[in-house]
Amino acid sequence: MTQENAPSPAYTMGYSPEFLQLLDRRNAAIHAAHLLPHLEPGMRVLDFGCGPGTITVGLAQAVHTGEVHGVDMEDSQIELARAAASAGGHQNATFHVGNVYDLTFEDNYFDVAHCHAVLMHVGYTQRALSEIRRVLKPGGIIASREMIAASSFSEPMGETTHEAWATFIKLLEANGGHPEMGKELKSHLLNAGFVNISATGSFDYFSSAADIAFLHAFICDWFFMPRVIEAATQLGLATQEQFDRWRLEMDRWKDEPGAVGGLAFGEAIGRKPI
Ligand SMILES: C[S@@+](CC[C@H](N)C(=O)[O-])C[C@H]1O[C@@H](n2cnc3c(N)ncnc32)[C@H](O)[C@@H]1O
Repeated sequence: MTQENAPSPAYTMGYSPEFLQLLDRRNAAIHAAHLLPHLEPGMRVLDFGCGPGTITVGLAQAVHTGEVHGVDMEDSQIELARAAASAGGHQNATFHVGNVYDLTFEDNYFDVAHCHAVLMHVGYTQRALSEIRRVLKPGGIIASREMIAASSFSEPMGETTHEAWATFIKLLEANGGHPEMGKELKSHLLNAGFVNISATGSFDYFSSAADIAFLHAFICDWFFMPRVIEAATQLGLATQEQFDRWRLEMDRWKDEPGAVGGLAFGEAIGRKPI
């Protein structure tokens, strides 16, 4: 297994082109729909765990001429995000390599802190939220959208496909992640001292022929890549034979006229007390 794109103990998904296919489809209009009504021109926004910045640039557009700062622990993602902002002319978006546990921003700096599919991968939720609370202004907004992995599906489900979903969940857990974070957000935000929390749920839903083809290719390229199989088998979560069977079932699923897929998410928005 090469280290570069490996699902590391700290971050299951890795940074391979196979996984970036999924992030490339994301945008603020859909994936930060719960936050956009709260954004106003001139606001200062943090997007932590910004990845390749496909959502961040939409936030930059929404608060123009305010500032958006994207932070990610991975250099390659920050390079991609800078390229996306430059290509789209988003001069108010700045990107930094950094860790959500220890941000370089001063206290009370941001009007809004946003993340998408990040707290599900961050081991110490309260430590991260306490750092976010520090950099938010009193009254500032925290917004997060995270996966509810056990409520995600590909239907009609093959005989043992549920085992594949369960293995993905166990892999996230083995790496210190929180596969059900989407439905735990409200509790975590309350525990971290945020107030006025509103929580909602939504799906990234796949139904058209193009969407099914995309989801099938994504699952096959990512979940069945040798390094993911190696990680899962070495941890004793599944066998190569199971992966072989699941792969055949995924191929059958793609050709089902009734095929649909859903990635389930929970969103929560709250405020730092004034
Ligand atoms: C699933 S990706 C989501 C990227 C982007 N928010 C999106 O939804 O398209 C998770 C990102 O969080 C970053 N990340 C994970 N833990 C982090 C940490 N402790 N500090 C900063 N970034 C982190 C990873 O490097 C990765 O780019």
